[in-house]
Amino acid sequence: MKHLFQTGTDPNAPVLLLLHGTGGNEHDLLPLAQLLSPSSSVLSVRGSVLENGMPRFFRRLAEGIFDEEDLKFRTKELYDFIAEASETYGFSRDNVVAAGYSNGANIAGSLLFHYANALRGAVLHHPMVPLRGLALPDMTNVPIFIGAGTNDPICSATESEELASLLQGAGASVTVHWEGNGHRLSSTEVQRAAEWFKAAF
Ligand code: MLT
Repeated sequence: MKHLFQTGTDPNAPVLLLLHGTGGNEHDLLPLAQLLSPSSSVLSVRGSVLENGMPRFFRRLAEGIFDEEDLKFRTKELYDFIAEASETYGFSRDNVVAAGYSNGANIAGSLLFHYANALRGAVLHHPMVPLRGLALPDMTNVPIFIGAGTNDPICSATESEELASLLQGAGASVTVHWEGNGHRLSSTEVQRAAEWFKAAF
């Protein structure tokens, strides 16, 4: 997959897996990585699907309606890519924390929904429930931050709560932070995520 890798100064810090929103690329969330964990190595991936020229991590049929077959296929593609990258760049596969926004948060959620130990933790900015009806793997000891919007037009507050309770039901420790800035990734949300990150890892 198209990506960039930056070696951090602390080899024990979690490796940040950055996953951009629709229409973004692997450069977008580099400032977020700096705020979350400046000493971490960074693996930032570009989604391999194009929607009218805009990179995404999986296809959708309409806004908020996902192509589930493609979502599953792309989730496995990313899961396999993380393992491949861990060998290429020499980091521990078990020390990867995802940080994603919107569509990127949705594929991070899908990694968590499909694979045990896919991620050591996750920072999900404005995620949706990636798919329903799955038996989720055990997520005991997986810390997850959800940045949600009381007025997010793409992901309703109810859906944010549903996602938090599904993850909690699988054993994850979930922190939900609410903002009133629609679907935007605001600086206060990022600041709260950074505080959470320092405490969680
Ligand atoms: C998605 O398709 O993953 C969500 O609708 C978020 C987005 O607009 O990318």
